Amino acid sequence: DSELDKDLNLTGLTITVTAGPTQEAIDPVRFITNHSSGKMGYALASKALQYGAEVNLISGPVNLEIPAGVNYFPVKSAQEMLAAVQDKWPLSQILIKAAAVADYRVENIASSKIKKQAETLTLKLVKNPDILKWAGEHKQKEQVLCGFAMETENLLTNARQKMQAKNCDLLVANDLTTKGAGFAASTNVATILWPGKELSLPLQSKEDLALHILRACQELYRQKQT
Ligand code: CTP
Ligand code: CA
Repeated sequence: DSELDKDLNLTGLTITVTAGPTQEAIDPVRFITNHSSGKMGYALASKALQYGAEVNLISGPVNLEIPAGVNYFPVKSAQEMLAAVQDKWPLSQILIKAAAVADYRVENIASSKIKKQAETLTLKLVKNPDILKWAGEHKQKEQVLCGFAMETENLLTNARQKMQAKNCDLLVANDLTTKGAGFAASTNVATILWPGKELSLPLQSKEDLALHILRACQELYRQKQT
């Protein structure tokens, strides 16, 4: 990756990456989740490590090998992920929020297995905390915050709105309707949004996309130091 990693040197930086889905319990044997594979976050963590960063990987449940050398923090629910981010963000220069956090959790988790009875069952869901928004509200001026956005319509308009609402410096926008993009695939199609500009990237591996994202983070971090 001669061009892709041009000038990439993350030595001395602590980078926190969140990855994977969250799992929201219903009862002791069931949960609500999504199709996130964790591949994007794990690619970011292993590339960041390879280019010299100290890496905290906060991960929901996935079936991937933990990159040797990262500080690994396994979590299940969004609330657990928030607690881990609250712990690590103040000590990091860069936070990349690749995780697919469940927007809602079950209000009352049943303490024993729910038995089947009536023909319908209603679960009451309550909104989870927005972890990226919390990080944006607690960002120091020299820190770089990179969010993601998953959209199926109005990609760039929605993504710009999220970027602003959550006080992100960068946002990686994924159009889930594009072939080869999104959750389970090893490839991705994304647009990296910067303040005032955007970089539309063609279909590529999540490793190559990770290098683009890390270079963008590094460039913004350097700008903030001057
Ligand atoms: N995110 C988060 N905490 C949540 C929900 C989302 O930190 N409770 C983060 C994701 O990790 C991602 C970004 O917010 O970096 C955007 O996630 P996305 O699901 O695209 O946006 P939402 O703000 O949740 O809005 P919606 O799902 O309604 O489009
Ligand atoms: Ca969401």
